[in-house]
This record gives sequence, structure tokens and C-alpha cells, in this order.
Amino acid sequence: MNILTMCGSLRSASLNKAIEATLPELAPDGMSFQSAPSFAEFPLYDADLQGRDGFPDGVRALADAVRHADGVIIVSPEYNYSVPGALKNAIDWVSRVPNQPFKHKPVALQSAAAGALGGSRMQYHLRQVMVFLEATVLAKPEVFVTFGAKKVENGRLVDEASRKAVADQLVGFQDFIDRCHIPAGNMAVS
Ligand code: FNR
Repeated sequence: MNILTMCGSLRSASLNKAIEATLPELAPDGMSFQSAPSFAEFPLYDADLQGRDGFPDGVRALADAVRHADGVIIVSPEYNYSVPGALKNAIDWVSRVPNQPFKHKPVALQSAAAGALGGSRMQYHLRQVMVFLEATVLAKPEVFVTFGAKKVENGRLVDEASRKAVADQLVGFQDFIDRCHIPAGNMAVS
């Protein structure tokens, strides 16, 4: 199972990047991870720019990466109670690519923040964005890493309770992706 990870923070010492980097050691067997191509240099979305020059190569690369993944995990901070602009801009660009790749894509969300709510307000805005894109977003288990600076060391998530929350979500996401792939006519009724 090939999982694409997207981090909403661009800074090198990011708490969220540390969680992204820790995913492989917390994952169940059979799950592998690949970081999304960088979207840090994407121009601000502008339909005139798209009409004149088409899609930037980086946007096509990101769209292809989403398309070919079995699932996408977005790990992001909360900026002013919402989705960081660079991440939202990347999603906006990808959403305009023909046959946009988030449609029916299994997606899981994780966040770390400095404060007590762990980025939850960002996650609920991002869920709303994903509804428009018709992504299939995992409902539970949720992952909110609160007071993140105390839980990350040397670029890794070290807090045991947070590591368990992430590990539990990865098991749930693996099962969710499996169930997403069952043709509706074959679903067991119990
Ligand atoms: C923040 N931070 C923040 N925290 C939070 O819990 N809710 C918020 O709305 C915001 N808003 C916000 C806006 C901006 C522009 C910045 C730079 C920061 C603080 C944030 O949680 C903290 O800086 C995290 O460490 C950012 O995540 P990374 O970069 O460490 O992954």
C-alpha cells in the first residue's frame, strides 16, 4: 500500500514534518510512504496564468503523485484557525487538473500545533475542502498532536501517547483503503 504524504508546513524544523518523518516506524506491515513533490514554489493560483501557460510542471507532478497513491495523508499545522496558504494553494492548483486526482481518493488527516487544540480547526476546514473534491476522508481515529513542541525531538515524534494515536490511525487507514477498494456489490451485509 503506497501512501503519499503532504506536509502543510514549509519550515525545516516543522513539528508536522517531524510527524511525517516518523510515519514509517509507526506503520503496520505492508504500508510504505513517499513524500509529495514540493509545492513551496507554486505560483499563487490564477486562472489567467493557467489559461496562458497551462499547469506548472510541479503541479502536474503533484497531481500525478496523488493519482498514483493508494491513499494520501496530509499532516499540517493550523494557521489562524485554518489551512496554511501554501497547502491550500497547492490543493487549489491540483483541483483544476482534468480528472482531478482527489476524487474518490482515500485521505487521512493529522495535525500538530503549539497549542491545546492540536490543529483541530484546520482539520475541519480541510475536511470541508475535501468534500468539494469528493475525496474519501477517514473519519476516525483522528490525530491531533497538542503542545507539539513538547512531543517532538530531533525531528521525530517521541511522545508515546501521540505515537500510539498515529499508529492506531495508520492501522485504521490501511483497513479503510482496503474497504474503499471493495466493489459495492461485494460488500458484506452483517
Ligand atoms: C500559528 N500557530 C497557530 N497555532 C494554533 O494552534 N492555531 C492557530 O490558529 C495558529 N496560527 C498560526 C499562524 C501562523 C501564521 C503561524 C506561523 C503559527 C502556531 C503553530 O501551531 C506553531 O507555529 C506550529 O509549530 C506550526 O507548525 P510547524 O511549522 O511546526 O509544523
